Amino acid sequence: MTSIRKTILVTGGAGFIGSNFVLQWINNVGGAVVNLDLLTYAGNAENLEALEGDSRHLFVKGDICDAELVATLLHTHRPSAIVHFAAESHVDRSIVEPGAFVRTNVQGTFTLLEQAKRYWPTLDAHEQQVFRFLHVSTDEVYGSLGPNDAAFSEVTAYAPNSPYAASKAASDHFARAYYHTYALPVLMTNCSNNYGPFQFPEKLIPLMILNALEGKPLPVYGDGKNVRDWLFVEDHCAAIRTVLERGVVGECYNIGGNSEQMNLDVVNTICDLVDEMRPNRTIGERRKLITFVVDRPGHDRRYAIDTTRINRELGWKPTLTFKDGLRKTVAWYLEQEAWIRNVRTGAYKDWIRKNYQERSTL
Ligand code: NAD
Ligand code: DAU
Repeated sequence: MTSIRKTILVTGGAGFIGSNFVLQWINNVGGAVVNLDLLTYAGNAENLEALEGDSRHLFVKGDICDAELVATLLHTHRPSAIVHFAAESHVDRSIVEPGAFVRTNVQGTFTLLEQAKRYWPTLDAHEQQVFRFLHVSTDEVYGSLGPNDAAFSEVTAYAPNSPYAASKAASDHFARAYYHTYALPVLMTNCSNNYGPFQFPEKLIPLMILNALEGKPLPVYGDGKNVRDWLFVEDHCAAIRTVLERGVVGECYNIGGNSEQMNLDVVNTICDLVDEMRPNRTIGERRKLITFVVDRPGHDRRYAIDTTRINRELGWKPTLTFKDGLRKTVAWYLEQEAWIRNVRTGAYKDWIRKNYQERSTL
């Protein structure tokens, strides 16, 4: 991408990955961000506290399904790119309440694409040439792998298994269709499991860190042998920037950490790190807190990502090993008392009750 104007529209920039991306974009690239986020239970303005008073960050509380608002933001701020993170992102919640996922992930993405399609021709020739719509998606659209299957590549057939994955797959198809039908300059990324600062503690890694710290049970679904590929969030954000700058329009890029881990191994490592950093005689060894609970319905067994394309064509690779990234993440959570207190509101407690108290142990 040549000479990009540095104001971009980011959706979902108060969530986990979005807020890391916005912080990196402003601090590393020096660009400006219009940040559109509805501040659902998963969005947290505190993640962006470091940007308070920074004129390069304009936060707008609003819904990506609101076509009029999206159109106004585009025509007022004339961004050179849209980086689309906003979504309902938690698989367990999609099993309980799939409708919210259809609305935000499908209808919301459609609204953004449609407004981008109307905005793009209003740019001058050079601006049209550099404009990009980057749709952030997931490896879950590819379904589940057997132990000896090859990792997901960009040509793996879609086979989404959860309502979350199905809604993301649908949004990917719309993004692809807007490129093919209207020549909208769309780029797409499909990434594996992220971890790191600012992740809402309903997801495996932060949930386990906080429960281990407080001596609560560590609820491992099923036999704990499901495998995920893990990527430190800042590496994911760097990959997105790389795709934005150098990706070929109309293409998708798989992003991953080349780091497959069994859930049980992840939880054991977290226990050891918390024991080391916050030993507690009353709690004792954290591994003893591990509790096997009834499995997630339709639980995908294994994800793995083939990162050959982004590595060879764009020169991106992860910088942090899982071991170092997890240590850094545990250390971060142990220092965030106020952040943790504030995210664990009534709504958070309701979810924890719903998801775990009704899930019997094995
Ligand atoms: P998150 O749940 O932490 O954050 C989502 C953000 O979107 C929140 O700030 C929320 O307030 C906002 N949002 C939700 N509905 C909205 C709406 N209708 N309008 C405006 N804003 C809305 O999610 P995340 O983990 O940061 O994931 C971000 C994106 O990356 C998602 O598209 C997700 O599918 C994708 N992804 C996530 C992972 C992962 O491991 N977390 C991996 C691959 C891809
Ligand atoms: O693969 C990318 C996806 O990774 C993203 O698209 C999703 O937005 C993101 O949430 C994540 O999905 P997962 O379902 O893999 O993440 P989660 O942290 O919910 O679970 C990781 C694994 O841990 C999974 O196999 C389920 C298991 N698990 C999870 C929780 C919350 C448990 O065993 N116990 C738990 O309490």
